[in-house]
Amino acid sequence: MRISVKAPLKAILAGEHAVVYGYPAVAVALDTYVRVVAEPGDDSFRVETELSCEGDVMADITRDGNVKDFRSESLREELTYVATAVRKASEEFDAHPSNLRIMSEAPAASGLGTSAAITAAVLLALAEVSNVDVSREEIRKLVREVELEVQGKASWTDATVVTYGGFVRVSGREFKPIEPERDPVLVVAHSQEPSRTGEMVRRVAEFRERLGIVDGIMKLIGKLVEDLEVALHDGDLRTVGELMNVNHGLLAALNVSTRALEEIVNVLRNAGALGAKVTGAGGGGCAVALFEREEDAKRAVETLSALGYEAFVTRPSPCGVKTEGSGS
Ligand code: MEV
Repeated sequence: MRISVKAPLKAILAGEHAVVYGYPAVAVALDTYVRVVAEPGDDSFRVETELSCEGDVMADITRDGNVKDFRSESLREELTYVATAVRKASEEFDAHPSNLRIMSEAPAASGLGTSAAITAAVLLALAEVSNVDVSREEIRKLVREVELEVQGKASWTDATVVTYGGFVRVSGREFKPIEPERDPVLVVAHSQEPSRTGEMVRRVAEFRERLGIVDGIMKLIGKLVEDLEVALHDGDLRTVGELMNVNHGLLAALNVSTRALEEIVNVLRNAGALGAKVTGAGGGGCAVALFEREEDAKRAVETLSALGYEAFVTRPSPCGVKTEGSGS
C-alpha cells in the first residue's frame, strides 16, 4: 500500500519573530507544496529526498530518531525534523517502519515553512501507513513539538498554517481563520541564501536581551498585525500592502534582512507590488509580495529571474496537510 500526502508551504504576511514573544502573526498557506510518498518498510524508516542540490539523498532513521547512513551536510537540519517526527510518531502511535520519499516544489531553508510542512506530511503519511487515525489538532501539536525540539524556540505559526491551510491569525496557541473579501496574487522570491530558523530566532533573542528598544519594535509589529488582519478581512489590499512594507522596515531593524533581500523587495515594489517584505525567519530565504494584478506579478518574476533570483507567482491555498491518494 502506497500513500501520498501533501502539505502547503506558507508565507507570513506580518508578525514573524514578534510572534515568538506572544504577539499575533498573520500567515497564509501557499498553493505550493511538499509531498511525501510512503510505503510500509522492513525494520527502519528509510528516507529518500530530492531536496538537496546534491541530487537524491538517502538516510535510514531508527524508531528512536537516530539518523544512520547519511550523506548530505546541507540537509542535516531538514533530516533532523524528519528524524524527530519519526520518533514522535513511534512514541505516539507506534508508527509502522516505512519507506518515505520527500519532494518539495520550493527549496529547503527558504523561510517558507518547508520543515513544518515536511514534518506534518511525514506524520500524516506514517499514521496512514500504520492505519491509525490522528486528528488535525494532534498533527498541529506534534509539528510544534518537533519544531520546539529542533529549533529551541518556536511559535505555533508554521504548525498551524501547514496543518489547516488558508489565511490564519495566530497568537500564542490560539488561531483563527481569516476569510478575506478578495484573494491577492502573491509573488515569492528566493534570495539564494539559506534561512536557518533556529539560528535566526536565537540571534533575535540575543539582540532583544542586549537592547531594551527591541521590545518596542515587537510591540509595534503586534499592533500592525492587528490592523493588517482587519484590512485583509475587508479586502483593503492597499492597506495590507502598506503594513507589509512597514513590517519589512521593522524586520530590517531586527537585522534579519540581507542585501539580496533588500534588492528583491525594491524590485518587487518597483514592479507594482502593493507590499513586499522578508517572510519567515530571514537572514536569507524569501521575500513575499502582494499584487493586485497578475500581469504585474508576472513581470516582477521576469525581472527577478533576469537578476538571477528564483521567483514564482502563487495563490493562497485553502487546504492544509492532506492525503492525496493511496494505491498498491
Ligand atoms: C518562522 O517561519 C517564523 C519565526 O517567527 C519563528 C516562529 O514563529 O517559530 C521566525
